[in-house]
Amino acid sequence: TNDLRIAVAGVGTVGSGLIRLLEENADVIEGRAGRPLVVRAVSARNRGRDRGVDIDRFDWEDNPAALARRDDIDVVVELMGGSDGPARHLVETALQNGKPVVTANKALIAEHGAALARLADEKGLPFAYEAAVAGGIPIIKAVREGLSANRISRVYGILNGTCNYILTEMRNSGRDFDDVLKDAQELGYAEADPSFDVGGVDAAHKLAILASVCFGSEIDFAAVGIEGIQRISSVDIAYADEFGYRIKLLGVAEWIDGQVAQRVQPCLVRADTPIAKVEGVDNAIVTEANHVGRTMFEGPGAGAGPTASAVAADLVDIARRRNTPMFGLPSRRLTAASAYPPEKRRGHYYIRL
Ligand code: NDP
Ligand code: HSE
Repeated sequence: TNDLRIAVAGVGTVGSGLIRLLEENADVIEGRAGRPLVVRAVSARNRGRDRGVDIDRFDWEDNPAALARRDDIDVVVELMGGSDGPARHLVETALQNGKPVVTANKALIAEHGAALARLADEKGLPFAYEAAVAGGIPIIKAVREGLSANRISRVYGILNGTCNYILTEMRNSGRDFDDVLKDAQELGYAEADPSFDVGGVDAAHKLAILASVCFGSEIDFAAVGIEGIQRISSVDIAYADEFGYRIKLLGVAEWIDGQVAQRVQPCLVRADTPIAKVEGVDNAIVTEANHVGRTMFEGPGAGAGPTASAVAADLVDIARRRNTPMFGLPSRRLTAASAYPPEKRRGHYYIRL
């Protein structure tokens, strides 16, 4: 068969969004991919759960890793989450079995991406993760393809939809933190453990991946300085407003003399800057590069449709047999990668936006 036969592990917010998208846009996708993309088999924890999409027409596997061993599967999509356990096992099994992998799992990539990319490289297989950074914004492709001729000196932005939604709603409708967080969970924006969102860890995962792609350095999640938004109160937001600022959770990565400095923290940004106007679940990423100058990418950073859009685009690449090597394996290996001195990671920081 000419079909690209897909296995989907994890049929939650993103997995069910992907199934819906592949069906609703099947004609467009087939046109661009040159062949049909069809879901063949799925796996999740609880087969009977109502997911808003009918999964009975697909083969079911109790064990996600079994998807990777099937002869009738061409590509494995991992949408379960978690940096270890079944997600990592599935991805390794798929690559060992000669199957390309697409994942939205930033925790997995931030922690084990370099090793998995090496495995994919050894096997000559695509390993794609567009959805892992900034949801629907195709930032990995934009940087890797569109900015490939530049030296990037800095990349920063709003990398967590849940936090931006919380900060926006607290300011615009005066609602309290916990109430808005509950909303973000119901809308499918938050991580299974939302402390990853509000604590800044999710943004740090994405920043570490983004920095690696921008600077050609190895991912170094452990070197990211992290501060979340848990301690931001309505009073902070109101005071910031009074002085003409918005509070945003920013991730910032800089290339400084051969070292990478990475931090995630709530920042005051001037209300008249483009990044201050990025509201709700939207993310935005600014890159500064030596020939193109500054670019900014904005769009929805979480949710079923936007994230599925990025996952499906990776599948189209694979169907067209376009390899998307993960990091292209870094050209310069940083010894003591991103060894930005820890004492410099905290404290005040000034950026001209
Ligand atoms: P959900 O919690 O909505 O869905 C997770 C799915 O994985 C569920 O179907 C669940 O099964 C299944 N699952 C979880 N653990 C296991 C396990 N141990 N064995 C088998 N199946 C398992 O998560 P999301 O869809 O929101 O997120 C999926 C991935 O995408 C995560 O890595 C997340 O970080 C990432 N992501 C999410 C975005 C979003 O906006 N939600 C945006 C970008 C990335 P069951 O349904 O039976 O419980
Ligand atoms: N929980 C994440 C967010 C999902 O809110 O940005 C998208 O990666």
